[in-house]
Amino acid sequence: MYYLGVDLGTSSIKVLLADENGRILGHASQSYPLFFPAENHAEQNPDDWYNGLIDCLAELNDRYDLTQVDGVSFSGQMHGLVLLDRDDLVIRPAILWNDNRTTRECAHLNQAIGREKLVEWTGNIAFTGFTAPKILWVKNNEPENFNRIARIMLPKDYLIYKMSDVFASDVSDCSGTLYFDVAGGRWSQPILEILGISQDQLPQVYQSYEVVGTVSPTFAAKTGLPPTARVVAGGGDQAVGAVGTGTVGDGRMSISLGTSGVVFVSSARYNRIESGALHSFCHADGRYHMMGVMLSAAGSNDWWVRSILRETDYAQTDAGAASAEADGLFFLPYLTGERSPINDPLARGCFFGMTAAHTRDDMSRAVLEGINFGLLDCYLAMKEAGASAKFARVIGGGAKSPTWLQMLSDILGLELRTINTAEGGGLGAIILAMTGCGRFATVEAGCAALIKDVDRYQPNMAENARYAAKFHRFKQLYGAVKGLFQ
Ligand code: XUL
Repeated sequence: MYYLGVDLGTSSIKVLLADENGRILGHASQSYPLFFPAENHAEQNPDDWYNGLIDCLAELNDRYDLTQVDGVSFSGQMHGLVLLDRDDLVIRPAILWNDNRTTRECAHLNQAIGREKLVEWTGNIAFTGFTAPKILWVKNNEPENFNRIARIMLPKDYLIYKMSDVFASDVSDCSGTLYFDVAGGRWSQPILEILGISQDQLPQVYQSYEVVGTVSPTFAAKTGLPPTARVVAGGGDQAVGAVGTGTVGDGRMSISLGTSGVVFVSSARYNRIESGALHSFCHADGRYHMMGVMLSAAGSNDWWVRSILRETDYAQTDAGAASAEADGLFFLPYLTGERSPINDPLARGCFFGMTAAHTRDDMSRAVLEGINFGLLDCYLAMKEAGASAKFARVIGGGAKSPTWLQMLSDILGLELRTINTAEGGGLGAIILAMTGCGRFATVEAGCAALIKDVDRYQPNMAENARYAAKFHRFKQLYGAVKGLFQ
């Protein structure tokens, strides 16, 4: 028996094929364009995702007997708005998670409706990336499209629909819409009324590991999958990526050091976060999670190493060679504004405290410290919201750098662990597919079977105290320059 994990990303779609023990046998991927039709707009064509999926399956079908597939599940880019009309035609290109056209709609929701009400109804406040402000934007700017809407769905839900003819979504992905009540696990009627939409236009919501249907005869004939293959709901890429690191159950933490940086905590109960500093979402394991998203983590380091230093080698050895003078040097990592916890799209990056004694290595160190302080800011917001974790598993490009990991462990005062897989969302989707098909009793059991720790980094608490003092000044620096970029 085989299981498929579909990872629907922003630059490409990847499909992993695993055997009945969860061992990865093969993969295929296809990239597609991302369109920026106007300033702050980011769109994709849902049929590019679908055609990418068909091509990946054709490639796998050449190498493996896809009639053996028992189940398939998904990890999807979150928040994107996909609209279909009564004939199931895509009304307009999908408006994506990284599209920032909705500042006005967000201001309306956060101010005129009010953050308190939004948190009460949905568990979160409005961010430009979320789906609800995108619906308001279409209503305000494209009334003829708005009036044609028969079905509203998230990116991976389009693939589920095309694959199984079932109009379905899951709790983790729906949590990022801002029209879903995270605590109650249902659509939020007051928000639907504000948006001018109804539940008839929305999918049925499942847990991420639940079977929503089987592959349709048309899709089976097109791809070589059997019509008995079960389609399991899957989830948003952050929640399913966390499943792929074993961050499930209560009080487990993972940190992703990708272009963006994510601090993620799984939780047995719903956490109400009044300030909007963190996202509070349903998890793919049937419980809840909190998440802080930093927009430029490895992205800041990449900018510094590649664009400024013009180094091709991504190693962070320079940062390790910094002088004692580096102590007085600060870097704010807000190159693309910031989401958590400061929620300030107008924040900007800066070096501060330069003297003639500072070297290039000192600046490399300041960049890495600044990124880690951004992650600490998220971590502290989580602790304030009641999260406690004994260690965090670290993934993403940055997790390959021992210098980075030791510094992050010292700054957080927390043990960090690397793991035996870098498959992330694809593996998470396979665990969901296998759980849905009964190979594992729970998502947690699937994680325990497939994901193991590799290296451990223990914090040096003397360094931790020194960094705590420096972090205090880092926060003061942001407070002092904040208004200058408005
Ligand atoms: C999560 C988020 C991203 C997108 C794209 O809030 O914005 O993870 O899902 O990957």
